Amino acid sequence: MNINGRHYRTIWLKEDDKRVVQIINQLALPHRFEILDLRAVADVQRAIKDMYVRGAGLIGAAAAFGVYLAALEAGDNSFEQDVLQAAAALKATRPTASNLAWAANRMLARLTGCEARGARNLTAAEKRDVARRTAQAIADQDAEWCKQIGARGLNLIKAVAERKKARSGASAPPVHILTHCNAGWLAFVDYGSALSSVYAAFDAGIDVHVWVDETRPRNQGANLTAWELCRHGVPHDLIPDNAGGHLMQRGLVDMVITGADRATRCGDVANKIGTYLKAVAAQENNVPFYVALPSSTFDFAMRDGMEIPIEERDASEARFVSGKTAAGDIETVQICPDETPARNWGFDVTPARYIRGFITERGVCDASEKGVLSLYPEYAGILP
Ligand code: MRU
Repeated sequence: MNINGRHYRTIWLKEDDKRVVQIINQLALPHRFEILDLRAVADVQRAIKDMYVRGAGLIGAAAAFGVYLAALEAGDNSFEQDVLQAAAALKATRPTASNLAWAANRMLARLTGCEARGARNLTAAEKRDVARRTAQAIADQDAEWCKQIGARGLNLIKAVAERKKARSGASAPPVHILTHCNAGWLAFVDYGSALSSVYAAFDAGIDVHVWVDETRPRNQGANLTAWELCRHGVPHDLIPDNAGGHLMQRGLVDMVITGADRATRCGDVANKIGTYLKAVAAQENNVPFYVALPSSTFDFAMRDGMEIPIEERDASEARFVSGKTAAGDIETVQICPDETPARNWGFDVTPARYIRGFITERGVCDASEKGVLSLYPEYAGILP
């Protein structure tokens, strides 16, 4: 993504000091663009837990770089034990997205697991080098997968645009795409999942317009998706979370594309709280509902989405909102009575039957075990 004419990823190693991980501070957006240095694995844990970084792909890449920092910190004689301990702490930061454990486990496999067998004789310094290269490879792969997702989703959007043109000629309205939360560049290392297709369509000259759900309580839609779309110049409107059904009823949504935090091999999807309601409304109104995700978001060992652990976050996120005052200050205000308690689940599960298809780096498939395994046959045998 280009910010003020310069290309950024969301996480990288500092140019002149590869012992430092740099991130874009998502807590400061959309009002301030700020880069933070993470120098220790404890910094990475905090960045993930407190959502300085967030989104399935990005927390996966952050976990990978976190294990790298743990490798730098590990004692020469307690390398495996120190790295295992740090990886366990990283995995415990956020429970719902698959990518976090997927990336941490991939790091462990190279450093301490069976893949490391050949590396057992390496010096600690050489193992640290393996850790850096593996974390970088995980980040690069995330970006590459998201780019592929964009190319696959572009074809779907193009088909809708062509249908609209055939119906209404040159004056055809734009392809209206509704999205929930932030599944854009900020949620991954680059490109994004749901928004990758939108960017690809926009760059290909297709007339697209995005309905951006504000996504209470953390407002990732208002704060992050809207900010990204502004940077890329994509036409969009921010809408209150409850507006989607109304727009679908009026024929103002051509397709819904969301991201995913975890998808089971049978096609159930955990995504940001409120996604399920959008999927139900989409089915009721015959609007195709797509989920865009890389393979690192699949939990190939799980069938039933109801088994996905759903993170419950602090009630303060529901009881307060933050924003910019007319004077330009960032303030947080309480929106309920002092004595009102709140509950705050981060995600919900959309059953496969509401999903028209998955947009993945390998292609588009049905949200079903057969569909998923047609793209990822190597996982067919891991469950009876
Ligand atoms: O709690 P967050 O902001 O980390 O939530 C994750 C998400 O960004 C969304 O659920 C998103 O739609 C899927 S992750 C690409």
